[in-house]
Amino acid sequence: MIMKWTRTIALLAITGTIAGCSSASEQDIQAVSGVNDAETIYKQKCVSCHAIDLQGRAGPNLQKVGAKYTQDELFGVISEGKGGMPSFEKRLSEEQIDALAVWLASKK
Ligand code: HEC
Repeated sequence: MIMKWTRTIALLAITGTIAGCSSASEQDIQAVSGVNDAETIYKQKCVSCHAIDLQGRAGPNLQKVGAKYTQDELFGVISEGKGGMPSFEKRLSEEQIDALAVWLASKK
């Protein structure tokens, strides 16, 4: 029993370290892509359905979308579309979709 707990705590410590690292590097990426840029694109292409404060209108609320999807999954949803969500593959560059995915991934 004691052995088990020790292992669980050790595992938790390791997981915590990894999680800490990855969120730090996400912030680095975000700084490089330029948050303002993503917000500008959002204002032009997404506001009509998701509202200026991400609260949602025709589309769902995106205020906590970063807790639901990873950055890669967000890239997929924006580029390929999903249900009533249009595909932006041909309307935005890969860099622009990536900037949006990074930005939305931080909404938790
Ligand atoms: C024409 C309206 C419309 C526009 C414009 C639009 N969306 Fe959507 N979006 C939707 C709808 C509707 C859904 C729900 C799709 C479903 O789950 O069936 C959605 C879903 C999403 C989701 C997944 C949310 C979830 O909780 O599953 C994300 C992320 C998203 N949109 C981001 C964006 C971004 C970024 C843009 C701008 C590039 C954008 N949307 C533009 C209508 C729109």
